[in-house]
Amino acid sequence: MPFKPIRKAIFPVAGLGTRFLPATKAMPKEMLTVVDKPLIQYAVEEALEAGIEQIIFVTGRGKAALEDHFDVSYELEDTLRRRGKSLASIELIRMPPGSPVYIRQQEPLGLGHAVWCAREVVGDEPFAVLLPDELMVGTPGFMAQMVAAYARVGGNLVGALAVADRETDKYGIISPGRREGTLTEVRALIEKPARGTAPSNLMIPGRYILQPEVMQLLGRQEKGAGGEVQLTDAMAQLIGQQPFHGVTFDGHRHDCGDKAGWVQANLALALAREDIGAAVRAFAADLIGADAREDQIARAA
Ligand code: UTP
Repeated sequence: MPFKPIRKAIFPVAGLGTRFLPATKAMPKEMLTVVDKPLIQYAVEEALEAGIEQIIFVTGRGKAALEDHFDVSYELEDTLRRRGKSLASIELIRMPPGSPVYIRQQEPLGLGHAVWCAREVVGDEPFAVLLPDELMVGTPGFMAQMVAAYARVGGNLVGALAVADRETDKYGIISPGRREGTLTEVRALIEKPARGTAPSNLMIPGRYILQPEVMQLLGRQEKGAGGEVQLTDAMAQLIGQQPFHGVTFDGHRHDCGDKAGWVQANLALALAREDIGAAVRAFAADLIGADAREDQIARAA
């Protein structure tokens, strides 16, 4: 590959998860489970599948459960072994010694600030950023798709995902240029554009491949939408100086930072499982059937 490989990935997990209270009062949002696995593990597996070697968590207070999840659980392993039970379900989350790296973001000043907190570990290398509350389901995973795109064009890459026009004011939005296959040239980026002003309906989901120069721009600590240091604003300043593309995702995005999105993710992944899919499908069909019958009764009354 003519471009420096993507070996490091930052996982910003220091946010407060206020949209998910009370679940996130004492538990990190990233530890919410979808079926039987916490969100953070899906994201880490996606990164490892893409060839990432170093996992960097930007954490804050109250995230101890997340750190323990990626550590050895001596008592649990010992008990499982003594009872002759399989350790397969917990072996997957063992990390190579020295990884992950944990960095503190003392105050949640925004996503851009969280990424900047990892600047010393990233150094002079391109890196990936994955937001674990967005569950990306694809084969291969989205980060692997992005790394393959990076091998072709280098530079900076963000996900590009079409949303309904009425939703564009909630996201970072791409002003698109030329399109070629899954790649869209990025002409500008706007964080949460006011209604009716978005240059397209292509939003940036929480996956990025960035060049290290973005760290200097983040270091200026300029505040953007919501009074936070926005990653989108710093990335926007790289456009024109370095290649910048959006990558269309071949797969499904579930916004698990949102309650409805999280419930939908649970349902979608449960239905696809061999062990519980049939039971959940039967239950859902019953529920929908009962709903329809109640509607009919209400209409007839
Ligand atoms: P979100 O805005 O979705 O997360 O940030 P949040 O702030 O935790 O959630 P709400 O809006 O209050 O419900 C996207 C990602 O960036 C991280 C979050 O942990 C999440 O993974 N983040 C956000 C930080 O690490 N630090 C911040 O200052 C802000």
